[in-house]
This record gives sequence, C-alpha cells and structure tokens, in this order.
Amino acid sequence: MMDARIIDLPKFLDRRGNLSFIEEENHIPFKILRSYWIYDVPGGEKRGGHAYKENQEFIVALSGSFDVVLDDGTERKVFHLNRSYYGLYVPKGLWRQMENFSTNSLALVLASTPYDAQDYVFDYNEFKKDK
Ligand code: TYD
Repeated sequence: MMDARIIDLPKFLDRRGNLSFIEEENHIPFKILRSYWIYDVPGGEKRGGHAYKENQEFIVALSGSFDVVLDDGTERKVFHLNRSYYGLYVPKGLWRQMENFSTNSLALVLASTPYDAQDYVFDYNEFKKDK
C-alpha cells in the first residue's frame, strides 16, 4: 500500500480552458502500454474487484467523480478522484475496486502491460493468502 499515491499533474490554467498532461516514466513511474476508459456507468455499479499480478495503473477522473478502494490484504484505503489534474498510482499486487461513480463520470486508466486475462486475480481469498 505504501507505494499507492495521488500524483499531481501539470496544470495550465487559462481563461480559454485548462490543460493537463501525462508523460510516461516522468509523471507516472511506468511506460504506458495500454489506455482504457470506463464510462456510462449506471448509478450504484462497481467496477474492478480484482488484483493484478504485474500490471500497474494510473487512474484519472477526466470527468465527474468516483472512489477507488485499494486493499493490500491488511489495510484498506479509499481515494476519491474528482479532478482531471491529478490521479491515483496503483502499484501491482493490490486489490482494487472502483465505485460511487457520479453521473457522466469518465475514468481514464493508463496501464503498464497489454491486456492479459492471466494477470488478474479474481478470488479475494487467493489474493489474501499470497500476502
Ligand atoms: P475488466 O478489467 O474485468 O473490467 P473491470 O475490472 O472494470 O470490471 O474488463 C471487462 C472486460 O473488458 C473483460 O471481458 C476484458 C475486457 N478488457 C479488454 O479486452 N482489454 C482491456 O484492456 C480491459 C481493461 C478489459
């Protein structure tokens, strides 16, 4: 859990509209091999509910807000994301769930590995016994 953290991104405030950006291996500590986004989440739904063996992620609320719940098998922490100029770095090996999505929220997820179904741990007890 130690390494999970909110990372502030550069922010160019401008009366024409604001701009932020992310550079791999600079603002976030990994090379981006995949990007995906979660949108149109119905009220009350949860996403995630698994761990990754190797994949690291950086999650940004590009629009709206949601909570990311992280669990290292001992400690559980809730991060509320609601601005597009910061995000949550999620190291490998943490149980993670996303919930409390606001209407029209948009979650951008940058990932350190290509999609690999074998990298998922879906069973919480299996996750916990490896800790
Ligand atoms: P999943 O990671 O299980 O979503 P969540 O953790 O938010 O509940 O992914 C849902 C489906 O999308 C699953 O069938 C696999 C597919 N998928 C890909 O094909 N590529 C990807 O990069 C991701 C994240 C998911």
